[in-house]
Amino acid sequence: MRRKLTARDIARMKGGRIVAITAYDYPTARIVDEAGIDVVLVGDSLAMVVLGHPSTLQATLDDMVRHTAAVARGVRRAHLVADMPFGSYEPSTSKAVESAVALARAGAEAVKLEGGSEYADRVRAIVNAGIPVMGHLGLTPQRHLRLGGYRPQARRASEARELLREAEDLEQAGIYSLVLEFVSEEAAGLVTRRLSVPTICIGSGRVCDGQILVFHDVVGLSDSPPPFAKRYVNAREVLLGAVKKYIEEVRKGLFPGEEHVVHAKERIEG
Ligand code: KIV
Repeated sequence: MRRKLTARDIARMKGGRIVAITAYDYPTARIVDEAGIDVVLVGDSLAMVVLGHPSTLQATLDDMVRHTAAVARGVRRAHLVADMPFGSYEPSTSKAVESAVALARAGAEAVKLEGGSEYADRVRAIVNAGIPVMGHLGLTPQRHLRLGGYRPQARRASEARELLREAEDLEQAGIYSLVLEFVSEEAAGLVTRRLSVPTICIGSGRVCDGQILVFHDVVGLSDSPPPFAKRYVNAREVLLGAVKKYIEEVRKGLFPGEEHVVHAKERIEG
């Protein structure tokens, strides 16, 4: 087995091609880790793709802790990051540190939080407590109410400059990497060129130091995947087919077969 990747290793991959994906449970963690992924994120997208909620606002710290612990049990090599859910870092720096500590105790090797300059003090406090922080700018789903939906960001020059300013503030505060979600490729390029920490993009083009996607979008298990995601397999069809076959075989008396049966060691009367 190759050595476990750390936040330091990821930070050193500036200029490379970091590959990241989400996972929310043990079997998925085993799969993505065995495949050779660099970063596994226990994303708060969990609320939508696994728990069936309408947005990420419903993910709680308890949800994130439980799922981070499950993923941590399955990851051997990848660097493990957990999302700080809505409400777990906004109220105060001490609340932010407490929440990050809970996630680190569950097995996270870094935490990710959404937002820019206004949360730089939270980033600094968490890093000072010894926990690496990944930033997240552009489309920040926890702010979808304020942003007016899930629209692409930083398509104007002034917005790209503002994005860069926020990214530089986060870098100053101590982030070791930065997720850029659904921003123009040109804005992502500007931030990637100007930052010394790696950018990891989702829906932000080809110019970043890495890419991240939601596992359920990659394997075809999402109800409504975003336009920038790529589906590599239609797992829903595969799973649906398997369960339909099981139903059919039970109804036709074909399952269980002889190979699934245990026999008594002696004659049982009655
Ligand atoms: O929660 C999540 O899955 C994320 C990724 C989209 C980066 O934050």
